[in-house]
Amino acid sequence: MLQLPKRGWSKEVIERGLQENRSGDMPVHGGRVWAYVYPAGEEIEAIQKRAYLEFLSENALDPTVFPSLRKMENDVVAIALSHMNAPEGAAGNFTSGGTESCMLAVKTARDYARKVRGIAEPQIVVPVTAHAAFHKAAQYFDVELITVPVDEITFKVRPEAVEAVLTDRTALIVVSAPSYAHGVVDPVTEVAALAKARGILCHVDGCIGAWLLPFFEKLGAPVPAFDFRVDGVTSLSMDLHKYGFCPKGASVILYRSKDLRKFQVFSCAAWTGYSVVNPTMLSTKTGGPVAAAWATLHALGEEGYLEKAAMMREATQKLIAGIAEIPSLSVLGTPEMTLVAFSSTEVSPFFVIDAMKKRNWYIQPQFDGHGSRANIHLTITPQSLANVEPFLADLRAAVEEVRGRTFGPLVATLGAALDGVDPTTFGDEMLGQMLAMGGLSPDALPEEMADVNAILNSLPPALTEKLLATFVNDLFTPTA
Ligand SMILES: Cc1ncc(COP(=O)(O)O)c(C=O)c1O
Repeated sequence: MLQLPKRGWSKEVIERGLQENRSGDMPVHGGRVWAYVYPAGEEIEAIQKRAYLEFLSENALDPTVFPSLRKMENDVVAIALSHMNAPEGAAGNFTSGGTESCMLAVKTARDYARKVRGIAEPQIVVPVTAHAAFHKAAQYFDVELITVPVDEITFKVRPEAVEAVLTDRTALIVVSAPSYAHGVVDPVTEVAALAKARGILCHVDGCIGAWLLPFFEKLGAPVPAFDFRVDGVTSLSMDLHKYGFCPKGASVILYRSKDLRKFQVFSCAAWTGYSVVNPTMLSTKTGGPVAAAWATLHALGEEGYLEKAAMMREATQKLIAGIAEIPSLSVLGTPEMTLVAFSSTEVSPFFVIDAMKKRNWYIQPQFDGHGSRANIHLTITPQSLANVEPFLADLRAAVEEVRGRTFGPLVATLGAALDGVDPTTFGDEMLGQMLAMGGLSPDALPEEMADVNAILNSLPPALTEKLLATFVNDLFTPTA
């Protein structure tokens, strides 16, 4: 196993090593990766890096020792609350990302339900389109999760379907603005009204889009009501490290009132060390992300964000029109922002993804289920605009190239062998064998992933989850 070098490496050797380490990465800049990255542009990125490094070593654990970090957090949260039309008395915190913000909303709702409403075993109600972060929160915090189907044309949850599953144990209802998978906004007004009438909390997951939607509205896009102007919305999560174009590690969790936010705060004076009071999950944390977010918001300003929003809106409209012109392709639902899922009636999206990879584009697979066909997901950024034409040309060629292609024999064999098998009976060894059969080794993924995706797509989700967990458990193996 790798050991600490006896003698420290020189700056040059470290630099070389860092560059070698990233040799297999997809490029962040240039717009070839249609997921995960939201570059802010050269000038803004220089400002961000400077701000991040300036506060790299400060510790946000104790806001009385580093008041700068508390000030920047309060500034960022205030800007976010104003952007979401929050009322006087609203409050929030800066978090490490969307998952943390969503998890905190669930933890707050659980504790509010227990302490204020006397619900010993709270439930949360989430549409099947809500982000996996809510499933994670339910697991981590041992809260029962009730899923609600969505309309199979619009991919929005129906208020009647939500109403049908409410019980006297419902602590929280979640809606998305917009959802990641199909980029559509749930009927927030109707669902929040249902919640309010029953004393249930209502969380809007605006992690991916709440920051951008108001700019889209200013540009004339029809944006349904989703923020704190909607009666009954009690909390809202919004990532700054996505369409806020801040460096990663930047999200906010916002509450209608400080009284509600109180249920989020953890405080401990029952050990032998310093008193621990954490408003969010982490304790010790760098000041880099909050400083960089503070710098980005001020550097871009409303005009900067509007300019980016206009570029993305144009790119999205052109892409949607271009996809519709490619034989057999169609967009799922009606995207309301910059997230587009499309599928084909004739070819598997998994083959198209591989054919696009050969052309140096990374596009993301989404599996079928809940009325959604297996599809390809695009996250559009300002970089996308200059890439629309070459991307569409390659997409057209990729669809033609894979027409008539069929999956390898393993897909059918495994599909038949596993049909109806109880996933709980699969031990680690069997899961390992299955991964090996699919060519999934932690050292390198196969060049072509279509067969693997087809297998994962065809398995019961519980088995897919087990397989992926086994794979990731192997992926993080200490360096030899
Ligand atoms: C709607 C939504 N919620 C939550 C998250 C989780 O955010 P993160 O990846 O920052 O933890 C995402 C991520 O894409 C998202 O799209």
